[in-house]
Amino acid sequence: MKAKKLLSLALCGALAASMAVPAFADGQKVGVSMPTKDLQRWNQDGDNMQKELEAAGFEVDLQYASNDVQTQLSQIENMISQGADVLVITAIEGNSLGSVLDMAKEYEIPVIAYDRLIMDSDAVSYYATFDNYMVGTVQGTYIKDTLDLDNADGPFNLEVTAGDPGDNNARFFYQGAIDVLQPYIDEGKLVIPSGQIDFDAVATPAWATETAQNRAENILSSNYADGENVDVWLCSNDSTSLGVTKALEANYTGEYPIITGQDCDIENTKNMIAGKQSMSVFKDTRTLASQVVKMVGQILNGEEVDVNDTETYDNGTGIIPSYLCEPVFADANNYKELLIDSGYYTEDQLK
Ligand code: BGC
Repeated sequence: MKAKKLLSLALCGALAASMAVPAFADGQKVGVSMPTKDLQRWNQDGDNMQKELEAAGFEVDLQYASNDVQTQLSQIENMISQGADVLVITAIEGNSLGSVLDMAKEYEIPVIAYDRLIMDSDAVSYYATFDNYMVGTVQGTYIKDTLDLDNADGPFNLEVTAGDPGDNNARFFYQGAIDVLQPYIDEGKLVIPSGQIDFDAVATPAWATETAQNRAENILSSNYADGENVDVWLCSNDSTSLGVTKALEANYTGEYPIITGQDCDIENTKNMIAGKQSMSVFKDTRTLASQVVKMVGQILNGEEVDVNDTETYDNGTGIIPSYLCEPVFADANNYKELLIDSGYYTEDQLK
């Protein structure tokens, strides 16, 4: 394997020319590339991966890329040059890693896409994530049940804030929720005063809280007169939910709406406890990290790799064998059991 890597290095051309000579470590090395430290969940994912990989005896090169694609590309290039045996990558932009992944392929370094699918590259060996469509289904079902859409007359005002168009997950979250809500939109029980419902109209580049807040403020000032209610705001995740919450706090005089989220970030869990966010979807990053550590071990031992989905995730080069963990509904009633009793957070962190 190492010999092949060296041979490939010699053949790798222009990209290799810009790289330092690889210093292959004695132990097996795993490069973990995370998108950013700005969002809580990736810090948690990175920490868990590092802890678990090191406990399993691997050397870990963990890097965060400040949500900057060029930084992520050079960090991964560096991991390759430092002799990574496996790469675990959460892409900032699903289809911007082609060149560096070609290099990984040249070196025969298996790549696991972590949480977000890496698109348009045949260098991706496996994908490990939570069931992204189910995240949306959980959010949509919560809205349907809370408004009792099968029995209530409505109409209820709905607004939607989705995720980053460059993140393959974002459309899965959106579609999972919309598939539950669409019949009620068609029936006229749910109406969308802003008229913005297509994914492209409701997406939030980079999942940025401020972008979500600005858009929500515009929607509120243009479509909701004094005292007029937004009944429900479907937000795909917690960072966008936070933006919408801030916009509502800043200039909204109607009744507080149902607001969804995802991740159970600390700030959002506090908002759930305070009644400002209705629910979130808990994706226990410890579960995903353990699964990925298991897959890394199986890959390096030449064992069969544990996957449970070989149909859903086509990255443009074919189906990527995937392991989907199960996301869990969270709200103010069950957060203690889910987050505190399980040791995910301490009580103090949520004060
Ligand atoms: C993840 C979400 C996260 C979002 C923003 C998505 O790819 O699946 O858990 O909230 O990125 O970082």
